Amino acid sequence: MLEAVRSALHGAATVMRAETSTEAGVSFARSAGLDVGTREIRQIVELPVPESRLAEGAGAPAGVEVLSWSGRCPDDALDDWARLRSRMSAEVPTGELTRTLETADVEAVRRNEQRMSAQGYTLVRSLAREHGDAVGYTEILLSRADPEIVYQDDTFVEERARGRGIGRAMKVANLRQLMTVPESAASRILQTHTEPGNAPMLALNRSFGFDEADVLTVLEGPLG
Ligand SMILES: CC(C)(COP(=O)(O)OP(=O)(O)OC[C@H]1O[C@@H](n2cnc3c(N)ncnc32)[C@H](O)[C@@H]1OP(=O)(O)O)[C@@H](O)C(=O)NCCC(=O)NCCS
Repeated sequence: MLEAVRSALHGAATVMRAETSTEAGVSFARSAGLDVGTREIRQIVELPVPESRLAEGAGAPAGVEVLSWSGRCPDDALDDWARLRSRMSAEVPTGELTRTLETADVEAVRRNEQRMSAQGYTLVRSLAREHGDAVGYTEILLSRADPEIVYQDDTFVEERARGRGIGRAMKVANLRQLMTVPESAASRILQTHTEPGNAPMLALNRSFGFDEADVLTVLEGPLG
C-alpha cells in the first residue's frame, strides 16, 4: 500500500508525513525512511464539561470581549479570523516537522468552511477582542452524523496577550457555545492533541478536566 501511495504521488509531492499511535507503526514508518518529527499528547475530557467547572475561572479580563458562533464566520470577523489563523500556523509548536504556512486569506477561510460543512461538520468558534483588536480564537469541530467524539482544534492567543486568562475565557465561551448546537446532546468526549512541550496548552486543558489518553507520533521523510 505504501508503494502504491508513493507511485500515485510521484511528481506531485516531495515530502511524506504519517501519524501513528503505536510503536509498531513507528517502526514501520522508520523502515520506510521516515523520521520522528514530533509527538503529540492526546487529551480527552467527558462532555458536557460541568457548568461548575466552566464557572471556576475569573471570566474574560477587563477590556476583553469574546464573540462565539456556530458555522460560518460573521463577515465582520472574517479578516481577523484569517489573520489569526495564519499566525497560529506560523507559531504553534511543530517539533522537527516541516512547517507548512497556511495561506489563510479570507477566501481560504470561506473555502475551508464550505468543505467542512459539506463533510458534515459544524464549526463551533470563539474570537477574543481586546479594546476592539482581535487577539485570539478557538475552534471545535462537531460531526453532525457522528457527534459522540468532538474535536478541539486550534486555540491561539497573540503573544503579547498571553498569560492573562484570554485562552481560558475563549475556551469557556466555546464550550458553552458547543452546548447550544442540537447534535451536541449526543456528544460524550472532547479530544485534542498537544505537543508535550506546550506547557500552557496542556495546563489549560488539564484545568478543564482533560486527561492524557495516549501519544500520537508524527513522522516525516522524503516521498521517493
Ligand atoms: C496556549 C495558549 C492559547 C494559552 O493562551 P493564554 O491566553 O496565554 O492562556 P491563559 O492566560 O488563559 O492561561 C490559562 C492557563 O494556562 C496555563 N499557562 C498559561 N501560560 C503558561 C505558561 N507560560 N506556562 C505554563 N502554564 C501556562 C496556566 O495554567 C493558566 O492558568 P492560570 O491562569 O490559572 O495560571 C497560548 O499560549 C498560545 O496561543 N500559544 C501558541 C499557540 C498554541 O500553541 N496553541 C495550542 C496548540 S495545541
